Amino acid sequence: MRVAIIGTGYVGLTTGVCLAFLGHSVSCLDTDASKIEALKAGKIPIYEPNLAELLAEAAPNMRFTSSYGEAIPDAEVVFIAVGTPPTPSGAPNLEYLSQAARSIGQCVNRDFTVVVNKSTVPIGSGNWVGSLLRDSYNNRPDRNGAEFAVASNPEFLREGTALHDSLYPDRIVIGADAQRALEVLYSLYRPILDQTFTAPTYLPRPDSVGAVPMLSTDLASAELIKYAANAFLALKISFINEIGLLAERVGANISEVARGIGLDSRIGPRFLSAGIGWGGSCFGKDTAALIATAGEYGLQMPIVESAKRINARQRDRVVEKLLQELKILKGRTIGLLGLAFKPNTDDLREAPAIEIAQKLIDRGVRVKVHDPIAVDRFLKEHGDMQVQICDNAADVSEDCDALVLVTEWNEYRDLDWESIGKRMRSPFILDGRHALDRDKLTRAGLRYATLS
Ligand code: UDX
Repeated sequence: MRVAIIGTGYVGLTTGVCLAFLGHSVSCLDTDASKIEALKAGKIPIYEPNLAELLAEAAPNMRFTSSYGEAIPDAEVVFIAVGTPPTPSGAPNLEYLSQAARSIGQCVNRDFTVVVNKSTVPIGSGNWVGSLLRDSYNNRPDRNGAEFAVASNPEFLREGTALHDSLYPDRIVIGADAQRALEVLYSLYRPILDQTFTAPTYLPRPDSVGAVPMLSTDLASAELIKYAANAFLALKISFINEIGLLAERVGANISEVARGIGLDSRIGPRFLSAGIGWGGSCFGKDTAALIATAGEYGLQMPIVESAKRINARQRDRVVEKLLQELKILKGRTIGLLGLAFKPNTDDLREAPAIEIAQKLIDRGVRVKVHDPIAVDRFLKEHGDMQVQICDNAADVSEDCDALVLVTEWNEYRDLDWESIGKRMRSPFILDGRHALDRDKLTRAGLRYATLS
């Protein structure tokens, strides 16, 4: 099928590359011409494992453009995957979405086009995009009876495993009020639903993956599913962190507690890793948006609100733990291992490391940092932050009074801890992710602590 994708961020680019890999003909559009030039030259503007390989394989089916006039008229399906960054009130900024909808309305030309909201948008946005499209189309002197319908197809991909999550999803959710739109999207996703494509060697199909369920529903339900899923995952993490606080007081081991409850299939083991808490572009923004939407209906979301508060508290607990250990923070040197909000990405949006570094700087601490991937982005986005960037973990540890493991990159698991301990002024490590081997570090001469 012929597909256009508006926006070449994480969601748009991953979706475009996967659909092209499956054999669809895909035009990726971004109004940022420099991004399009880079993509045409085979350069990928984001860090995502395997994206370069899959893009190379899918390239014959892909085109990159900044022109709606080129991308839209032939497309049977148009995905809107533009950014919806948060505003101070928690409600997302819908400017890019509205621009995209109007521009699509200027160019649709087929007897039937499905316009799909892939961006995370407030509940009710499907209707709103539909009205913007219609207005824009009806103002055209050259309109020729083209028809279109709006659908919602929320994405559930995680950064770092975005391609795996797109090719082998747990489910595909599609919301539309027009049956014909659902049918078109069913055909589009058929290779994924039936898992009929040949898996790339570097992204093998897990044995557990069979046919993928598709949930087709109405627009508003699909939109709410996205928020409810992210809020639930976020509160699962906050729940284990709340229990972690009590576990610490009563002398229980939170990892054992998580394992013990996770073995109950009604609870499940995932998203129960206690620690510094969640970051990233979705959980914070989506929980804020859910609360904001509820507010518009005079409702409160006390569970989601608490989950946010508990998450913020985990960052403060890092400082509290360091205070407990070092007594005085002013004038100390503290090293942070990891800047990205989680491993295998260079994304720093709502990254705990940034918040923790700032809290420490505010208390007069000299902060040293390392990250295997995210340093370039850090310099671009937080270049004015007063931290010392180091090339490796050993350099970070030099003269430190404490180290904090903020992001559980694999390479931090097997460091030469003995030599790291010797380089430190005081060999204390706070493992913010329960990622390191307590016994090994203790044997290497470090004092080891976790948040709970
Ligand atoms: C998330 C959702 O998982 C995805 O479905 C949605 O579409 C976008 O938001 P992402 O933000 O890429 O994906 O990362 P995810 O792997 O979910 O992790 C989010 C944060 O939670 C990270 O900071 C991670 O470190 C933290 N986390 C995750 C925990 O603290 N504990 C856990 O047990 C799991």
